[in-house]
Amino acid sequence: MNTNEVCKMFNITSKALIVYENQGIIVPKREKNNYRNYNEDDLFKLRTVILLKQLGFSLKDIKNLMDKNNYGNNQFTRSLYLQLKAIERNIFELDNIKNTLMTSINKILESNVELNYGDFLNNIDMSLKENKTNREQWVDMWGFDNKAIKFDKMVRDKSNDELGLFEKYDEVLSKVRNKIIEHNNAKSVIDIGCGTGNLCGELCCEMDVVGVDQSLEMILQAKKKYKNIKFKLGNFLDEPFRLNDVDIVVTTYAFHSLNENEKKKAIKYMLEYLKDDGKIIIADFMFLNDIERENCKNNLYGKDRGDLWEVINCKYYINLEKFEKYITSLGCKIEYEHVINFTWIVEIKFH
Ligand SMILES: C[S@@+](CC[C@H](N)C(=O)[O-])C[C@H]1O[C@@H](n2cnc3c(N)ncnc32)[C@H](O)[C@@H]1O
Repeated sequence: MNTNEVCKMFNITSKALIVYENQGIIVPKREKNNYRNYNEDDLFKLRTVILLKQLGFSLKDIKNLMDKNNYGNNQFTRSLYLQLKAIERNIFELDNIKNTLMTSINKILESNVELNYGDFLNNIDMSLKENKTNREQWVDMWGFDNKAIKFDKMVRDKSNDELGLFEKYDEVLSKVRNKIIEHNNAKSVIDIGCGTGNLCGELCCEMDVVGVDQSLEMILQAKKKYKNIKFKLGNFLDEPFRLNDVDIVVTTYAFHSLNENEKKKAIKYMLEYLKDDGKIIIADFMFLNDIERENCKNNLYGKDRGDLWEVINCKYYINLEKFEKYITSLGCKIEYEHVINFTWIVEIKFH
């Protein structure tokens, strides 16, 4: 497609196209007569650029994001994924501003005394600034897209795992697999945060398996290994795509990405997937209680390894005793067992 056709199609100026070209974002091939010829790939990219611009991203950010995603096959899927993530981010930011505005209005309505309106404006300003600074890390907050290719190697490489987080990784997955197989003749399982599909792969001969993950790159790796398993892009926090007809909802090494409120929401949705006699299985990093957590922190600081504590502290390890109270308050039964280091396996079912 030539420049004029592209401009017409997207309702943009040729000047804009030249800017994208000069920035190295979309560089079309040239014909013999030196005219530009935009191929399908260029058009997908252009669509992504326009959307990201509409969502308020600077050209510098856009270039950065698109460079990261500009490799290998699946270019079209990746372009859609990038747009999806941008929209999710936008919804999140708008929600943040909406909450700040609602809180401000309600505080004003509740108060009987003269208020300093400058404070409210500062709060709103702060949430706008917060949104802007968080933008840099929004696409792949925990870096799973970037880790996808090396993930399987990483979890088995002890030299880079000083905390022993993934010690006995394969044994943990086998243990979880056995628990699933032994459960009431289970026929269907959903694995949320399935990553590169290692657990799904262990189960697919025995039952119907669906792997769900928020990272497209993880799913692409999983699909490469297990062509016949169903994998879906999705999130713990998305409404269930099936109701009351799944035997097991399982998650391994993923739940600690969710904060306390998100975990509650995720549990609610996981229960909604289940049949009456179904079960949730969570294998993940946890502390038994706050004392254990504090001991771990002091121990690491005592060894001058505050850096390792930060690895733990930036995620949301479950406090098991607190979690147990929450689960029983829902009328469910919970059992847990310690496997190694920070890794526990929790089983939750209806009473
Ligand atoms: C450490 S990996 C574990 C992968 C796999 N379960 C395993 O045991 O090998 C964590 C996975 O959880 C996914 N994840 C993190 N937060 C998620 C969320 N909110 N919804 C869905 N997946 C999530 C990540 O993308 C990543 O693939």
